[in-house]
Amino acid sequence: MIMKKAQEIVIFDTTLRDGEQSPGCSMDLDEKVRLARQLEKLGVDVIEAGFAIASDGDFAAIQAVAEECRRAKVASLCRTVEADIRRAGEALKNAAFPRIHTFIATSDIHLEFKLKKTREEVLKMTAEGVALARELCDDIEFSAEDSTRSDVGFLCEVLSVAVESGATTLNVPDTVGYTTPNEMFELIKTVRERVVKNREDITISVHCHNDLGLGVANSLAGVMAGARQIECTINGIGERAGNAALEEVIMALRVRADKFGFENNINAQLLYPTSQMLTEMVSFGVQPNKAIVGRNAFAHEAGIHQHGVLSNPLCYEIMTPESVGVPSNDIVLGKHSGRHALKQRFAELGYDLSPSEIDETYKNFTQLADRKKKIYDQDLIGLLPVRNDLAQNVSSFEAAIA
Ligand code: KIV
Ligand code: ZN
Repeated sequence: MIMKKAQEIVIFDTTLRDGEQSPGCSMDLDEKVRLARQLEKLGVDVIEAGFAIASDGDFAAIQAVAEECRRAKVASLCRTVEADIRRAGEALKNAAFPRIHTFIATSDIHLEFKLKKTREEVLKMTAEGVALARELCDDIEFSAEDSTRSDVGFLCEVLSVAVESGATTLNVPDTVGYTTPNEMFELIKTVRERVVKNREDITISVHCHNDLGLGVANSLAGVMAGARQIECTINGIGERAGNAALEEVIMALRVRADKFGFENNINAQLLYPTSQMLTEMVSFGVQPNKAIVGRNAFAHEAGIHQHGVLSNPLCYEIMTPESVGVPSNDIVLGKHSGRHALKQRFAELGYDLSPSEIDETYKNFTQLADRKKKIYDQDLIGLLPVRNDLAQNVSSFEAAIA
């Protein structure tokens, strides 16, 4: 009997674009390249590196990421206007696998108050924009911004024009985080039936914002209805309440493989280190109870839970901390810990410190341990000396906990 290979979900990471454009999340060029390298190691399929026409900094970052990444596709966002599209094409010139991602809004509210365009004009801009992008690049993604508040008939018309003009990925964003899982399922099913039909060369994508806390649930509902690309970000950063969090999407697909049955290329053991790397670069960490990567995600405080976990972790854990790369916490760091334990912990977190860096960090560590009962990984990262690849210093840490 021939076994059918499980279908794959394309993981499109937009931490460097949608994530970076949100308050407190700007990154400099070196940080963007470092994060892109980590995303490639993590196994994401597409890295959206920026919005080429938005600024010279964005353009330079896309160029640098495009030169750096040899396995992942690198995408630049652009509106369906000529100058934007050409700038995106230019930024991606040296990419091994470039993708131009062009978008226009399709909801009446955006047409009337933002674009000040008629539906006919939007159809024309879609056709011309996608066709121009296709002249510059073989791989074109088209997004209908505010899809979930658009008239479904018009949305399907625009998406069909995008396909006729050369787009092979159709993104259906819940731009304002308004939809619900049932609605998203129905919408993707409609797009599949009316626009994609039997074409295997067309991929439906979902891009769900988290304004009602439904970003991940809506993305997964989209997948159940036929979407095969999920757009997401590390730690769920992004406009307003953020995007669907990559680590949550991946672990939901993995832990509930019985429900979803899809594969992806992510190495889940790099989820936590990647989350930590991003935390160092942006100006806030993740909430302690954040799923998968929050510092309490695997902590058990209540006696009854502790007893259950000690007898069998499956009593209260549906995945192990090790499966997402959280270092095992056998060594409890406190004021009696020595340099060796500290060095070991930093190594587990991915920092190889020199003897003089350990000396410096150890001094700060003992002062902190005098004041704090529990030292978390994020506290340790805040103690790192300033070095190009080791962000943050003690004073910023002091400010953060003041
Ligand atoms: O949220 C959104 O609609 C977007 C698109 C540009 C893809 O970020
Ligand atoms: Zn978005």
